[in-house]
Amino acid sequence: MSCKLVIYLNLLLSLVGLVCMFPFREKQLEYNFYDGSCPNLGTIVRYGVWSAIRDDNRMAASLLRLHFHDCIVNGCDGSVLLDDTPYFTGEKNALPNRNSLRGYEVIDSIKEEVERQCPHTVSCADILALAASEAIDLVGGPSWPVALGRRDAVTTSKAAAEQQIPTPIEPLQNITAKFFAKGLGLNDVVVLSGGHTIGFAQCFTFKGRLFDFQGSGKPDPVLGNSLLSKLRTMCPNIDSSNSNLAPLDATSSLVFDNEYYRNLMSNTGLLESDQALIRDPRTSSMVYYYTINPMSFYNDFAASMVKLSNVGVLTGMRGQIRETCGSVN
Ligand code: HEM
Ligand SMILES: *[C@@H]1O[C@H](CO)[C@@H](O)[C@H](O)[C@H]1NC(C)=O
Repeated sequence: MSCKLVIYLNLLLSLVGLVCMFPFREKQLEYNFYDGSCPNLGTIVRYGVWSAIRDDNRMAASLLRLHFHDCIVNGCDGSVLLDDTPYFTGEKNALPNRNSLRGYEVIDSIKEEVERQCPHTVSCADILALAASEAIDLVGGPSWPVALGRRDAVTTSKAAAEQQIPTPIEPLQNITAKFFAKGLGLNDVVVLSGGHTIGFAQCFTFKGRLFDFQGSGKPDPVLGNSLLSKLRTMCPNIDSSNSNLAPLDATSSLVFDNEYYRNLMSNTGLLESDQALIRDPRTSSMVYYYTINPMSFYNDFAASMVKLSNVGVLTGMRGQIRETCGSVN
């Protein structure tokens, strides 16, 4: 065979290889993904998030949690935003989400404006990822760069959410296993739990600590008397108090700071899963470190959010760009 022929054959083979692999290639997210197709995206999201927080100062916390619950269940694919259909029961009605997750309407209204300016272009998953970063920036936390190009899931399930979202009453080991399953580490558990420096929890999520800790019939022994009586006043031992709200960070529940870790050091963390972080020596050293190094907490939180926002994304030809976030096209 002549040399030329070999070269042509090689070229042909690599072309065939490229074309065949195209649909399966894992595309990376890109910072400038919508620069040409939706140049105003950043401004639209920023305004939508800003006005939502202006009207309801808890909304920053709610948007951060919404993004977390999207990503931890089958990846950051906007699946958490899907309403139930005759074909599937979605995540909105899963136990950790029902009557608990907030902010759907904020994402829906940003999406409406985005559709007006750039029809059929921007995914709901990307809007949610951007909104979470903007929200934290607006309440004094670190913003993190959000690479874009996620696509939206076409289905989901309630069961997946119930299996994959960590609960506040399971041991640290179980929570860690759920993070590991997404490629996140023990350090991410400690850092991202710092998201509980803002927002609120309903009494039923920590009531066991007040009246019957782990089946002991007694309160959690680490709760001091004054905190215990304060929480019992907010959450009396009757079902009708179940949805009363307590701040996750009683010191500064609207500001993103490192008070969450200081609370844990003084045994005033709200959720069992929060306070558990100082019972394990591997995590307690990190908690202590963040109480004295707020800047490290900011930097590490941003880095862990970037990791979280990349979990299981759909790119390229997978998924779709939904027209409305609540339903598949
Ligand atoms: C590590 C395991 C985690 C557990 C067990 C957990 C559990 C909870 C629970 C039980 C609530 C209260 C829900 C309610 O009462 O309706 C809550 C609220 C919240 N969580 Fe987590 N969470 C975890 C991790 C995270 C992460 C990684 C983030 C974000 C980075 C986050 C952000 C939030 C925020 C901001 C709120 C307040 C939401 C609001 O006020 O609307 N959580 N979490
Ligand atoms: C923790 O995980 C183990 C192993 O998967 C499971 O058997 C156990 O029920 C879990 N505990 C709780 C409280 O969810």
